Amino acid sequence: MITVRVPLGDRAYDVVVGHGARMALADLLPRTARRAAVVTQSGIPFEVDPGVPFERFALGDGEQHKSMASVEDLCRGFASMGLTRNDVVVSVGGGMVSDVAGFAAAVWHRGVPVVHVSTTLLGMVDAAIGGKTGVNLSVVGGIGGKNLIGSYWQPSGVVCDLDALASLPDREVRCGRGEMAKYHFLTGDDLLSLDETRRIARCVEIKAAVVAADEREGGRRALLNYGHTLAHALEAATDHGIAHGEAVAVGLVYAAHLAHRLGRITERRVEQHYDVVAGSYGLSTRIPQGSD
Ligand code: GLY
Repeated sequence: MITVRVPLGDRAYDVVVGHGARMALADLLPRTARRAAVVTQSGIPFEVDPGVPFERFALGDGEQHKSMASVEDLCRGFASMGLTRNDVVVSVGGGMVSDVAGFAAAVWHRGVPVVHVSTTLLGMVDAAIGGKTGVNLSVVGGIGGKNLIGSYWQPSGVVCDLDALASLPDREVRCGRGEMAKYHFLTGDDLLSLDETRRIARCVEIKAAVVAADEREGGRRALLNYGHTLAHALEAATDHGIAHGEAVAVGLVYAAHLAHRLGRITERRVEQHYDVVAGSYGLSTRIPQGSD
């Protein structure tokens, strides 16, 4: 088991990475918590025990449920169980669950603690770390978009239980690898030479360092968006037919071509993007057939 500290002063927290890490959940809860609202989704490979009485809430599957309506449903559930500001929300799932549950925690009673139990590779290396939460603004009259409503709300702790990865669909694995390839370009680290636990812990460490330097994306944190400009456009244009990490992989090589056209990087550096994204991480650098 590896514990990585996200160093944010009086809001610093631990990320516990390893097989069976969910057993650490109760220790990550704030001491004031008497009850927990566990927010999850269908198909999550394990149950968790937060160590305090809890009620379970399930989000719907699919991007359309990353919505204000889901946040309202959750808040209604929190109200019916009498969740107070001293209690805790526990998200159990991938990036969508931590984004929606994190945002509901940020706004319920103007903020209750949240702990994320991440069950996807993408969630472990990116979404659950660093406090970004949010939902999509539904498109009405051509106005709307992904993650436009949200807040920075740091968790009190994060669990990355690698047991969840054994049953992760290939597509979800590709999505996590898209974000990992991004870290390759940010640091030059050969993440693939590490064993699984160290590899994920190293990704958490890289993200934690960026977040600690620029929590609210005034500058440096924007590095974490490398490849994401085109990626978000591809997701929107294909109505999420192409998944986030797959789109990031294409976005990374696109960013390299753009940088080359602008005279910022050499052709060799563009080739390295293909070597890493396609060669090392085995990801498609083109939009998959049938996504449009
Ligand atoms: N996923 C990018 C960030 O957390 O800033």
